[in-house]
Amino acid sequence: MDEFPVKGMDAVVFAVGNAKQAAHYYSTAFGMRRVAYRGPETGYPDEAVHVLESGSARFVFRGPVRAGTGIGRHIAEHGDGVVDLAIEVPDAEAAYRHAIAKGARGLEEPHVLSDEHGKVTVAAIATYGETRHSLVDRSNYHGPYLPGFEAAEPVVTPPEKRCFQAIDHCVGNVERMDEWADFYHRVMGFTDMAEFVGDDIATEYSALMSKVVADGSRKVKFPLNEPAESRRKSQIEEYLEFYGGPGVQHIALATNDILASVDRMAAAGLEFLETPDSYYEDPELRARIGSVRVPVEELQKRKILVDRDEDGYLLQIFTKPVQDRPTVFFELIERHGSLGFGKGNFKALFEAIEREQARRGNL
Ligand SMILES: [Fe+2]
Repeated sequence: MDEFPVKGMDAVVFAVGNAKQAAHYYSTAFGMRRVAYRGPETGYPDEAVHVLESGSARFVFRGPVRAGTGIGRHIAEHGDGVVDLAIEVPDAEAAYRHAIAKGARGLEEPHVLSDEHGKVTVAAIATYGETRHSLVDRSNYHGPYLPGFEAAEPVVTPPEKRCFQAIDHCVGNVERMDEWADFYHRVMGFTDMAEFVGDDIATEYSALMSKVVADGSRKVKFPLNEPAESRRKSQIEEYLEFYGGPGVQHIALATNDILASVDRMAAAGLEFLETPDSYYEDPELRARIGSVRVPVEELQKRKILVDRDEDGYLLQIFTKPVQDRPTVFFELIERHGSLGFGKGNFKALFEAIEREQARRGNL
């Protein structure tokens, strides 16, 4: 008996300075389709909200229309970022009551929203930083998003083939990983995934520790990162400094064809992280990954990373931050059996860099 049953991710809700332009960017660079809108034109004077989809992945962009709003304050403090990792549940009332009984901080009591398309029950609890989890039961709703939203035309004609079809995992950067892993264990009954990484990726260069918690069905997966001591500033520390505290670091998007997705998104101007050629030329890479569906040269051309574990392999790539602050970024992931998160890539990538450094006599 699952104490906190979930159906999956309901939405990733972003607070952005300009939701109209964000809707355009995610339509053109991410190939998403706008499906719903709410704003001054529809009776909501303070905020414009654009809802975009790609397969089962739903992104919601909230932008302030006037001064003095809560969302405006959030953006002033944190920059563009994620305010809500909304989870779809079969019973929002029961989920909320369970969470509160286990010590979660309530932000919104369960309440019913309705319009001509049906009704939705929503509640919300607090998680790390200023991030929340809305708990959404939409089983009796047939509208484009939530009551109060109107169907909206796509911003541009969506691509014939979408760039991704689902949210794979959502990563949080926190100050104390164990405390938040415990929060998800206690409040949602989540368990650690097999790829329990603890501190074994805390090399001098990556300088982070990570744990992955997930619901019993593995539909909702939340890796949690904590900065680790190192000689250089940890990337997690940098995030915490620029975001102004804990928050969502990256959203991983599941794709069936990462090569086509990278080609399309890069052509649309999305910037991906560079991987050194030494990563691909390293003989240990081929030994480690075995045979994958495309030649290593095709991966190298696009700087796609590959990792293998006992269940299979995965292909992945990371974008650069998608706003001026070095905070939120995205990952594309194509899984072939592997349920991991690319643990092998941390080590392999940094070791490849170190070998190059050593060749230059700088290590
Ligand atoms: Fe990831």
